[in-house]
Amino acid sequence: MTFQYFLIFLFILLAIWFAWKYFDLRKQINQYAQALHRQNKFSGNFKELESLASAVHSLQLFFESEKENLNAENARLATVLEQLTDGVIIADADGRVQFANPAACKLFGVSNPVQQTIAQVVRNFQLIEAWRRCQQTRSIQIETVELPTRRQFLQLTAIPDEYESGSLLLAQDLTQVRRLETVRRDFISNVSHELRTPLASLKALTETLQNGALTDVEAGPRFLERIHTEVDSLTQMAQELLDLSRIESGQVELNFAPVSIKRLLNSAADRMKAQVERAGLKLSVNFSENLPNSFRADYARLEQVLVNLIHNAVKFTKSGGEISLFAESITGAVRIGVKDSGIGIPTESLNRIFERFYRVDSSRTGSGTGLGLSIAKHIIEAHNGKIWVESEEGRGSVFLFCNSKLK
Ligand SMILES: Nc1ncnc2c1ncn2[C@@H]1O[C@H](COP(=O)(O)OP(=O)(O)O)[C@@H](O)[C@H]1O
Ligand SMILES: [Mg+2]
Repeated sequence: MTFQYFLIFLFILLAIWFAWKYFDLRKQINQYAQALHRQNKFSGNFKELESLASAVHSLQLFFESEKENLNAENARLATVLEQLTDGVIIADADGRVQFANPAACKLFGVSNPVQQTIAQVVRNFQLIEAWRRCQQTRSIQIETVELPTRRQFLQLTAIPDEYESGSLLLAQDLTQVRRLETVRRDFISNVSHELRTPLASLKALTETLQNGALTDVEAGPRFLERIHTEVDSLTQMAQELLDLSRIESGQVELNFAPVSIKRLLNSAADRMKAQVERAGLKLSVNFSENLPNSFRADYARLEQVLVNLIHNAVKFTKSGGEISLFAESITGAVRIGVKDSGIGIPTESLNRIFERFYRVDSSRTGSGTGLGLSIAKHIIEAHNGKIWVESEEGRGSVFLFCNSKLK
């Protein structure tokens, strides 16, 4: 009991001490304030405090606007990195990935590369070595590799990071560029090859003529006739090459106007009539009933396509066969076709015959450069349409085109 009384007594003593301290402190503050007031110093201090506060406030506004600018800049940078088709990877000094944009993930086929090592992400010895050299020499390293499993050409640029001791890796997919280079090389070698054959034969024919055949009444005109044919085929090839290059480089402007479908098919058939008859073939033109009168197209270019297709049909159909030219209406579009009862096209060649210079079998073709269908495809695609073929070897082919991509 006595201990409890003692505790209460101690508590009261402490309370009195705190109360006295509090009142004493208040008294001192009051005295200080009065003294300041008396010395007329307080108002001056107050003004200083006010200007300090306004300086702090404007500093705060400045920092807020700077922060907003930084945030906007960050967001812009993030969007650029997100949309960039080149891969960007930032790695620290130990080669641990700190950042990778979506393109980098896609190029290297990884889903979450952060905190993985460069070796784990890149998985190619030459590329890893390029990064290592960049780390050691602190200079930019460029390495191009082919990844056969992914049929990809990659170029990696490793740039040392000036602030951290890591590096920035820039990965570019050069597959498409390489493919275009190959196409260009193939094109040139194909053109030279196609030129060499008729030129060699022209040389042989003229030499034979020079060596006496010129005066031979029987052989002379025959050789001249062959020279004529070769020159014709060279002229046709030059024309087709020119057409192709003009169309591909976008130099050909299409003259869109309403085109009468019946007039288009009949005039193409008329132009080819003589050739068809000479080859011992029959040509018919058919229209479906609900066909619209006209559609918007470039008349001359579509006629060129049809003449090309009929010309092929004539070349690849044996005497006695039939060629049919038709137009039909399918929901919202017009489909035009050239059908023949000719030799047909093997299945494995079906998706290649629209390529430049592609010929199923040059020995069976005789004349021709393999450019006709590729020109036709360009013309139809410039009309926003689609061209395709259905064929069975030995049973004939039908080439169809449509003024809409969707059909
Ligand atoms: N109607 C057809 N019947 C069979 N094969 C065809 C037909 N049309 C085209 N082809 C095949 O497609 C190839 C490419 O045709 P094309 O580009 O017009 O070139 P070209 O007529 O100069 O040979 C032809 O060489 C031929 O092998
Ligand atoms: Mg042709």
